[in-house]
Amino acid sequence: MSDPRKAEPLIQARNLTKHYEKGQTHALRGVNLAIKAGEFVAIRGPSGSGKSTLLNMIAALDRPDSGEIRVAGQDLTKLRDGASYRAHVVGFIFQLHNLIPTLTAFENVLVPMLELKIKRKASREKAETLLHQVGLNGKADNLPPELSGGERQRVAVARALANDPQIILADEPTGSLDTSNGEQVIELLRKINREHNVTLILVTHDKEVAGIADRVIQIRDGQIVSDK
Ligand SMILES: Nc1ncnc2c1ncn2[C@@H]1O[C@H](COP(=O)(O)OP(=O)(O)OP(=O)(O)O)[C@@H](O)[C@H]1O
Ligand SMILES: [Mg+2]
Repeated sequence: MSDPRKAEPLIQARNLTKHYEKGQTHALRGVNLAIKAGEFVAIRGPSGSGKSTLLNMIAALDRPDSGEIRVAGQDLTKLRDGASYRAHVVGFIFQLHNLIPTLTAFENVLVPMLELKIKRKASREKAETLLHQVGLNGKADNLPPELSGGERQRVAVARALANDPQIILADEPTGSLDTSNGEQVIELLRKINREHNVTLILVTHDKEVAGIADRVIQIRDGQIVSDK
């Protein structure tokens, strides 16, 4: 740990709580968490335990009721423009319904760059490079329904990288895939994490996937019950 940038946590949550009126649910009950730049963290826990809620907080898609959350030096509870924060800091990969079905693989990868001030030519070149990186250079013009499940998730990985995020948030990215396709996607994310020092936070039910991570956090009933 000689890199001084690694000393400051990239993500710091203190006593986060979130309650949903509907269903009277306490989704998060006092979550404390510090994640350093470049870590690969797996999050596990039963259905409804608060995993996605926590990712949504880190993505500034939702706000906590109380507590603090700071990411990349920004206080997310005071953030004015969540969209701009997301556009610059995070890449998100979801379990399902990842891609815009009416856009080609190539166009899907271009989408996050529209928010940023990137020249058209540069963003097209970048989308091409990213699709190549995920092994899909031959499928750039395919629409999502013309891709396999594993290929679609790889497009989603390419799209999540398009804005050069510091953090990738992946909510069960292999949930809809068979073992071999799932492994490919995880290996790809792992590679990006290692080679580009991108912080990777991955929700998974899969024990083996969690085994690849540097650190596994277990959540139950909105609380972290284990972190190692
Ligand atoms: N928008 C919402 N309105 C009301 N309740 C919600 C909302 N979002 C989540 N919840 C509730 O908060 C709790 C935590 O949900 P969350 O989606 O974080 O669980 P999870 O751990 O991601 O589960 P899964 O593994 O099934 O995806 C659940 O009880 C859920 O029903
Ligand atoms: Mg979830």
